[in-house]
Amino acid sequence: MLVLGIESSCDETALAVVEDGHKVLVSLVASQVAQHLPFGGVVPEVAAREHLKMLSPMLEELKVKLGWNSLAKIDAISVTQGPGLIGALLVGVAFAKGLSASLKKPLVPVNHVHAHIHGALLGVAQEQRTQYPVLALVVSGGHTNLYRMTSPLDFQLVASSIDDACGECFDKVAKIFGLSYPGGPEIERLAKTGHSKKVVMPRMVDEKSRLEFSYSGLKTFMANLYHREDKPISAERMGDIASAFQEEALGQIARKLRRAFEIFPDTKAVLIAGGVAANSRFRSMLQEVLPCPALFPPLDYCSDNAAMIAALGYHTLQSPQFSLNQDWDAYSRYDFDQFRIKK
Ligand code: KG4
Ligand code: ZN
Repeated sequence: MLVLGIESSCDETALAVVEDGHKVLVSLVASQVAQHLPFGGVVPEVAAREHLKMLSPMLEELKVKLGWNSLAKIDAISVTQGPGLIGALLVGVAFAKGLSASLKKPLVPVNHVHAHIHGALLGVAQEQRTQYPVLALVVSGGHTNLYRMTSPLDFQLVASSIDDACGECFDKVAKIFGLSYPGGPEIERLAKTGHSKKVVMPRMVDEKSRLEFSYSGLKTFMANLYHREDKPISAERMGDIASAFQEEALGQIARKLRRAFEIFPDTKAVLIAGGVAANSRFRSMLQEVLPCPALFPPLDYCSDNAAMIAALGYHTLQSPQFSLNQDWDAYSRYDFDQFRIKK
């Protein structure tokens, strides 16, 4: 089954065609980083207008890449319904609804955060892809959510951040220190040049009984650290600060995952998804501490992309609960509590 995925929730316009939920035929991503860079963060109005500009030409490019002169071979279309920037989402949803009507193909709305998890399974061998239960972690600019899954659509929320998301903390700390946007890759680059032990860091939400994540205290600590530092901060010192911050920001997740593993000892693998999954120190840290395989997406599918949207769309279509009701619209926020495991 071929599913066309459409993603427009934030600052990447993306289209992809995926076969049977895992084989990516084509994946196109147009990043808007250059448009938002002068503002130091994503400007929602600019994002929506960029999606509007990019979607039609990207669809043409997709057909050229596939060697198709029509989209007749597509079995279904899947689109990000939310969460995200409402103006940006509305552009993608309106585009998808129009395409679905004109091609007479079913349209599947999907949750962007859950789709990230399916991004982590793209390119993974069949034996590993079908092994459940798993723990799945989405670490992005908007979410730090840990799920237990016993099947592809069973998203049981185990823990989430009680305040800022992990990627958001990277971005905000980078901004405080005058680094460029997005902050995550910039902090990772600097961290490679420093020594984490040279800066004394606090340990956030360290109680063993708590699985929730928290990043606002760490952000405040970093803001205070910045104000205490002699200016200008030398390149060597900046490397040490970035390295110490990165160890604590990611180490918190490693500690919580180990604890989650004690609660769910039947876990067969841990899937790590979202933009922060691109971080190479995060990858090595988790491979070291976890007693089971940690599956990371190929780098192209860590940050926002449409292959993950098509993959989740495929699984949704297989569900007996799925109905082709067209009475739905984009949503900017989502009540993830409905997925939370009851204690
Ligand atoms: O999943 P994503 O592309 O978009 C959202 O849905 O939020 O995640 C973007 C986030 C940003 O906060 C960015 O700074 C962070 O992922 N990020 C990283 C790295 N690459 C991207 N954080 C740490 N290290 C990286 N290498
Ligand atoms: Zn995302």
